[in-house]
Amino acid sequence: MKNRNLEAQFSLFPVDPASEVPPDDAASDGTELVSFRELVPEISDTGYLTHAIYAYPAKFIPQIVRYAINTYTKEGDWIVDPFAGSGTVGVEAYLCKRNAVLLDLNLLLNHIMPLKVYRGKEILSEASLSKLLAGMQKSNDRFTPAWSNVAYWYAPEILEVLSQYWGFINKADAGIYAAIIKAALLKVGKRFSYTEDRTPKLARSKRKLNAIEELLKANWREQLDEMLQRLSLKTLKDLNDFMVYTQQHHVEDLGQVEFHGGVDSSGVAVPRVCDALITSPPYLQAQEYIRSTKMDLFWLGHTEEEVQALSRLEIPYRKPDRVIQTKTLDKVQEMLTRDDLRKRLDSYFCHTVNALENSMNQLKPNAAACIFVGNPRIDGITVEIWRILVEYFTERGWTFEKVYEDRIKTRKLFGARKNKNPDGMKSEFLLVLRKKAICQTTAQPSEPLLQDAADSLPAPKTSPGSDAS
Ligand SMILES: C[S@@+](CC[C@H](N)C(=O)[O-])C[C@H]1O[C@@H](n2cnc3c(N)ncnc32)[C@H](O)[C@@H]1O
Repeated sequence: MKNRNLEAQFSLFPVDPASEVPPDDAASDGTELVSFRELVPEISDTGYLTHAIYAYPAKFIPQIVRYAINTYTKEGDWIVDPFAGSGTVGVEAYLCKRNAVLLDLNLLLNHIMPLKVYRGKEILSEASLSKLLAGMQKSNDRFTPAWSNVAYWYAPEILEVLSQYWGFINKADAGIYAAIIKAALLKVGKRFSYTEDRTPKLARSKRKLNAIEELLKANWREQLDEMLQRLSLKTLKDLNDFMVYTQQHHVEDLGQVEFHGGVDSSGVAVPRVCDALITSPPYLQAQEYIRSTKMDLFWLGHTEEEVQALSRLEIPYRKPDRVIQTKTLDKVQEMLTRDDLRKRLDSYFCHTVNALENSMNQLKPNAAACIFVGNPRIDGITVEIWRILVEYFTERGWTFEKVYEDRIKTRKLFGARKNKNPDGMKSEFLLVLRKKAICQTTAQPSEPLLQDAADSLPAPKTSPGSDAS
């Protein structure tokens, strides 16, 4: 049972193991059975080029995004992702000579994108990186995150060294090299903390406390420095590979990738007209992206107030401002006996649909909306999210084009771990809706264009690379 719980945390759309699994050779219900990994053989490694620079919970595999891009967009198109997370859609759009506008509540997006879509022209030098890493050792600068609980998560001597390294790197005016080291420092900071680094959520465990205690008796500082150096060099290499690839494929500077981290997609309109939407909404229960990534956010200089304000806007942990009703959703609501779960469903569909609609209203006629969802079960009842979305949007000027069903046999977990799916096949669905020429729009965004959660209007950012922090 324990393993299943752990797996559920890692899965993009965890499915109750008790759910009925249809036979392998037939799709569940009017769906086309596919394997996106097989449909996109040119991508053999989900972490290729810059995709693996950050470990973000419930990331898209790039094959799904690439398939949707190849099938539903053309060169030069603008693609919107209102739940961009770690920016997989942005990277794939850029590599495929498309443009992208990315929105996410999580501020991490603003730190991730300048690295993942690095547009420098010169091959980065290991020597410059090493010089910077060496400088950290002698630094007298200190940076401690504005996080009242920070001492709870670190042994004092480890916190002191991390504060020294962050103090140095925050002060160093070293552009992309500093950004590379910061990305590595985040991973090191998690590994050398008391939190379980194998799960996305922050959780102090006995196992980890013991591991750190043992480490402190050994050459921990050497190990920390070795990990920092290894990860920094790996990221530098990924960026160089990315540059070479984009030059060889004549991709560089063709596409624009705008990103807006810290934005509540449920309450804002997208700032431009787009040709397609490709997205994966948050999970129905217990993912908590902000809580999972807050250690990183604090190290990157964000405050407790900022992080709390974002947590309050996270789907589905907030009050709904309208009730979404469809045939299938109403049935599920009727079957549910628990009031808290009914409220969660109301919240989930209200804000997920608001966010989708805010983006979809900005799509051109005939544009495709590609929405990747699971079929989670709550209290033993399957919630067919794709069907509910079809019912909602076909009443509002959208055509149901098709739904792909991809059964997952091997699940890439958080970071580098892979698991055989122990509970039989599980499915994820790529729903494709097509906008009719004249489309009825409904929900009006409650806020003006891209008002961010903290009520300050960030200028759209693109990724030149040098100001990554
Ligand atoms: C399934 S993840 C997307 C992962 C992304 N496809 C990737 O490849 O990294 C869902 C995202 O929804 C975001 N989210 C949750 N509530 C939101 C809101 N109100 N507005 C915008 N984004 C939100 C979470 O921060 C999370 O990054």
